[in-house]
Amino acid sequence: MQNEPETFDFRDYLKILKDYSPYDFSDYSDNSIARRVEKVMRDYRMPYGELVERTKNDTNFVEEIVEALAVNTTELFRDPVIWSFLLENIYPALKKKTNINVWHAGCSSGQEVYSNMIMLEHLRLLDRSMIYATDISKKVLEQAKRGVYKYNFNKGYIDNFNKVFANKEIDFARYFDVNEAEDKFIVKDILKGKTKFIKYDLVQEQLPFYNKFDIIFCRNVLIYFNINLQSKIISRFYQNLFPGGMLLLGNHETISGFYKTKFLKHGPVYSKNNTFHFK
Ligand SMILES: C[S@@+](CC[C@H](N)C(=O)[O-])C[C@H]1O[C@@H](n2cnc3c(N)ncnc32)[C@H](O)[C@@H]1O
Repeated sequence: MQNEPETFDFRDYLKILKDYSPYDFSDYSDNSIARRVEKVMRDYRMPYGELVERTKNDTNFVEEIVEALAVNTTELFRDPVIWSFLLENIYPALKKKTNINVWHAGCSSGQEVYSNMIMLEHLRLLDRSMIYATDISKKVLEQAKRGVYKYNFNKGYIDNFNKVFANKEIDFARYFDVNEAEDKFIVKDILKGKTKFIKYDLVQEQLPFYNKFDIIFCRNVLIYFNINLQSKIISRFYQNLFPGGMLLLGNHETISGFYKTKFLKHGPVYSKNNTFHFK
């Protein structure tokens, strides 16, 4: 006789995770987190009872689970139209500034960070930039620091780069070594060591730094959270942007509710306090 499939409520699991670890996924959006918990159980071939026991007793396992619950999809110059818009319409005005503080919240394995650094370097702004990049996942932060990506799987990176910099004097090879034989893109030294990569869970109120920012990227992260958590995080971004500073969200993310009136929207860019300092 076959065993009955196990039934469990993912909310019960998230409650256990919250009680036995520093991680609180209870304000993630229900559908996506439910699917991730099921995927973890399938991938680990682990019955629910064992998942609970390991979660309660094994802190290394908890870190693994947190990695597995997060979705890390990213790419270099993801949504090239947005990066072209920044390059043409927004970033030139940064030349007026002596310091540029940037925060990538939910940076994944670093492709977004390197995209931004390439734009800043191209505009000769990288030397005056202070860049922080944070993520909940230690594993992706380590990859971000290394700056090594699969070549065959990611050939589209070069297409994205060419779309963003069409008709510009710029060469992909200035920023990456392309090693087809070893199936690698390797970030060159010109972009290395400029960014502080820090493990930080956006659910936590306390930021890991005291800076205010000119630019915050939080792209394709809020989409995994419910509206309550999204609002808390937008409020934190608002408090930590300079007046006129800008916030970049993902293509399917918007600011709603109270903070909608606190930002001006210019193309894909939200600017704090209805002021726009980038034109
Ligand atoms: C889909 S990726 C987006 C990466 C990049 N911003 C982009 O748009 O290409 C979402 C990232 O958010 C991170 N993340 C999820 N929950 C988080 C949290 N509570 N705190 C910090 N980062 C989180 C994940 O680990 C993942 O790397």
